[in-house]
Amino acid sequence: MAPTILVVGATGNTGRSTVETLSKLLKASNTLSDHRIIALTRSLSGTVAQHLATIPGVEVLEKNWVDITAAWLREHEVVRAFIASHNQPNQFAEESTFHLAALRAGVQYVVRISTTAANVRPDSDAYYPRTHWAIEALLSSPEFAALQWTSLQPNVFTNFWLASAAALIKHHRTTGTQHPLRLLASRDAPVGVIDPDDVGVFAAHLLCQPDPAAHNKARYVLNGPGDVTGAEIVAMVERHIGARVESVSYKDLTFIEEMAAAVEAGSKSVILSIRHAPETAWAGECTASTTSREVLELAAPRRTAADALEAMLRE
Ligand SMILES: NC(=O)c1ccc[n+]([C@@H]2O[C@H](COP(=O)([O-])OP(=O)(O)OC[C@H]3O[C@@H](n4cnc5c(N)ncnc54)[C@H](OP(=O)(O)O)[C@@H]3O)[C@@H](O)[C@H]2O)c1
Repeated sequence: MAPTILVVGATGNTGRSTVETLSKLLKASNTLSDHRIIALTRSLSGTVAQHLATIPGVEVLEKNWVDITAAWLREHEVVRAFIASHNQPNQFAEESTFHLAALRAGVQYVVRISTTAANVRPDSDAYYPRTHWAIEALLSSPEFAALQWTSLQPNVFTNFWLASAAALIKHHRTTGTQHPLRLLASRDAPVGVIDPDDVGVFAAHLLCQPDPAAHNKARYVLNGPGDVTGAEIVAMVERHIGARVESVSYKDLTFIEEMAAAVEAGSKSVILSIRHAPETAWAGECTASTTSREVLELAAPRRTAADALEAMLRE
C-alpha cells in the first residue's frame, strides 16, 4: 500500500484528464512520487475505465462513490482526493457525505468541481448552483477546518455547449441534409466555454502541489482561452458543412423540457429550474476575462471552442 490520491468521477468529463495528468505529474514529482492513484467507476467494463487501467500508477476500482465511508478511505490510505459529483437533486446529501467521510478519515486535501462562477449563489434560480454554493458553505464551516479544499468553478463545457453543432455537422456529412440547429447560446453574448480536459489538467496540478495550503478554501474561476457567441458557432458550422445553416434557434431550452418530462412528477419543477442556468451567460457575465489568476499561472486552459468542435467531430 502507498499514500493514495483518489479520483471520484474518473470516467467523466473532467475526471479522465485529471487521472491522465496526475499520472504524468506524480512521476516527475519530488515529494509525491510514492503516491498511487485510485480511479473509481461503477463499471470496470466501460471504455474509459478500461483506458484508465492502462495508465501507469493508476488502479481502477469498481465502487459507487456515494457509498464511500471514512473506514474505506482509511483502508485505501487516501490522503488527497478529486470529486466531480453528479448534480442531480440529491447531490447535497451524497456529496456532503463524501466530504464528511474525508474529514473523519483525515484526508488532507480535496479538489472538487463546482459550476459556473456567476451562478454559484444562494439565490440562483436554477437549483444545482445553489447546491454547489451549499457544499462550498459546508466546507467553509469551522467544523470542516481540518480538511483543506479547493472548489473549481468552470464555465459551461464545450462538449455540452457545442453538442448540437457537432450533431448537425455529422448529420450533414452522412445525409447531405440539415435539421434545425438548436443552440443554448444566445446570438450575441460572448461566453468563455471551457474544454473539460483543461479543467482536469488544472485539478491535477493542484493535487500535485507539495503543499496545497495556498489554495485552501479557494474558489477558482475557469474559462477557455477565448469567448464564443452563438453567431460564431453558426459560422463554424457553416465552414464545416460548406453551406448556410437553414434554421437556427438561439437560447433553445428544449432539452430541459425533455429532461423534466422524463423524471417523476415531484422533481419536475426542480429540473425545470435549470432553464435559468444560462441566463448569466446570455447577460454577458461568463466571459474568459473572469478566469482566476491562479488558473492562468498554474495550468492555463488552452483548447478553443473551434479546437473542441474539431475533436468532437473525430469522435
Ligand atoms: N456540463 C457542464 O457544462 C458543466 C459545467 C460546469 C460545471 N459542471 C459540473 O460538473 C460536475 C460533474 O463533473 P463531470 O461533468 O466531470 O462529471 P460527469 O462526467 O457528469 O460524471 C463523472 C462520473 O461520475 C459517475 N456518475 C455519474 N452519475 C452518477 C451518479 N448519479 N452516482 C454515482 N456516480 C455517478 C460516472 O462514472 P461511472 O459511470 O464510471 O461510475 C461519470 O462518468 C457537476 O457537478 C456539474 O454541475 C458541469
